[in-house]
Amino acid sequence: MVMAGWRKAMTRAAVGTAGCVFLVVYLGSSLFHVGSGAVHSTAFAPLKSVAHQTDVDGAEPAPSERLAEQTPQEGVGPAGLLLPQDSLPATEALLRATLPLGLATLPAESADNPPSAAKVELGRRLFFDPLLSADQTVSCATCHQPDHGLASPEPLAVGIGGRVGRRNAPSLFNRVYGQHFFWDGRADSLEAQSLLPIANPDEMGEDLDTILVRLTEHPEYPRLFEAAFSHAAGSAAVTAEHLGAALAAFQRTLLLGDSPVDRFRAASDVTGLSLEARQGLWIFESRGRCWQCHSGENFSDEQFHNTGVAFGADNRDVGRFEVTGVAEDRFRFKTPSLRGVAQTAPYMHDGSVRTLEDVVEFYNRGGAQEDRELSPLMRPLNLSDEEKRYLVEFLKALSYQAGPSVAK
Ligand code: HEC
Ligand code: HEC
Repeated sequence: MVMAGWRKAMTRAAVGTAGCVFLVVYLGSSLFHVGSGAVHSTAFAPLKSVAHQTDVDGAEPAPSERLAEQTPQEGVGPAGLLLPQDSLPATEALLRATLPLGLATLPAESADNPPSAAKVELGRRLFFDPLLSADQTVSCATCHQPDHGLASPEPLAVGIGGRVGRRNAPSLFNRVYGQHFFWDGRADSLEAQSLLPIANPDEMGEDLDTILVRLTEHPEYPRLFEAAFSHAAGSAAVTAEHLGAALAAFQRTLLLGDSPVDRFRAASDVTGLSLEARQGLWIFESRGRCWQCHSGENFSDEQFHNTGVAFGADNRDVGRFEVTGVAEDRFRFKTPSLRGVAQTAPYMHDGSVRTLEDVVEFYNRGGAQEDRELSPLMRPLNLSDEEKRYLVEFLKALSYQAGPSVAK
């Protein structure tokens, strides 16, 4: 039943009546094992070991070496740099009419930019295209890698010319539920957000007008923009607005749900969820206090908190304060979703926490209790070693997803 929807959705989307059509991506091929029968524990393939990470203490290798080490599927960009390739299943196979189990109804905000198959396809191509960067060596996927939970394995994002930014590149799953974007929430919509990395000197480093000229002169893009957007006769189809809209429409299809945790919650189905992970869920919802901020279907309250990350660091990033200028917002950052989190190490806005075990240790200490501006919700937890392990198991279970053919 779940499988049946996408073809219909695609057709409806293609004729432009897509206001209520949900385009849903299941990341099949490289991340998740697609089971073929009833749900059982082997239907959930273990994700890449969280121990396999960048050595934050070690010497920084050149960006090309790093990508070569950490990106199994790669191509060569015009300047010889290795680029993460689009390993997502074909758009046809990805578009679905139903949400993965456990996710809330999609918000209606995307009404201004209704999805269509042509728009999503265009956004997808742009997302993987280094043409959007100054020297054509960096694509969105350089930092939001499909085989790394759409996040970056670097503690701090590495952009054009190997320039290191000041924050960690977060996962792009379930951003359709986002209310503010970036760690400090400085962008209000995905459309607006999507244009910002292009001009950022540490990321793609190019003036937007130059990129629009490049796209207009490209042999294929003008036709793809025309197919994706209706526009007044004689006016240009390749505009900044359309570029942002296509990238946003594609990103809204990147959904992650239907984890063993969702199956357990929906139908008390314990087959995919170990006893340890179930204990972890219980701690998450009680003594662990995690639910106070990582709440709701997407495990985020979409609010800003100071958990004590980077306490004591030189020139500590002030986070939300930069946007609002309100004193209470100093050192506050947006609560990230925890779906897919086992894929996306290292963690936190500065990539300073290397493993999920370290994350749990951090919370067990109560963050940085010496920090006078710490959120009052942060307290030492006094968890036993076993309980800490349960929490980690729970976080890992949230990152698994059953393949489409396993869905009921
Ligand atoms: C050089 C690495 C890099 C590149 C290239 C890059 N990003 Fe990002 N992205 C980041 C970092 C770092 C952040 C967090 C920045 C911050 O919070 O200040 C981010 C944040 C985001 C967010 C916000 C997510 C959230 O939860 O708030 C979105 C959406 C996003 N990027 C999309 C894109 C798109 C689309 C492109 C291509 C046009 C792109 N990124 C290119 C590094 C990168
Ligand atoms: C006071 C609100 C709050 C509480 C309570 C809380 N978190 Fe967080 N969590 C956040 C915020 C905010 C961040 C990002 C902090 C930063 O980067 O500075 C975060 C980050 C994380 C991350 C890193 C995610 C990533 O993509 O980098 C994980 C994992 C996590 N929390 C798990 C937990 C667990 C497990 C608990 C309970 C033991 C918990 N959190 C309790 C607000 C909270």
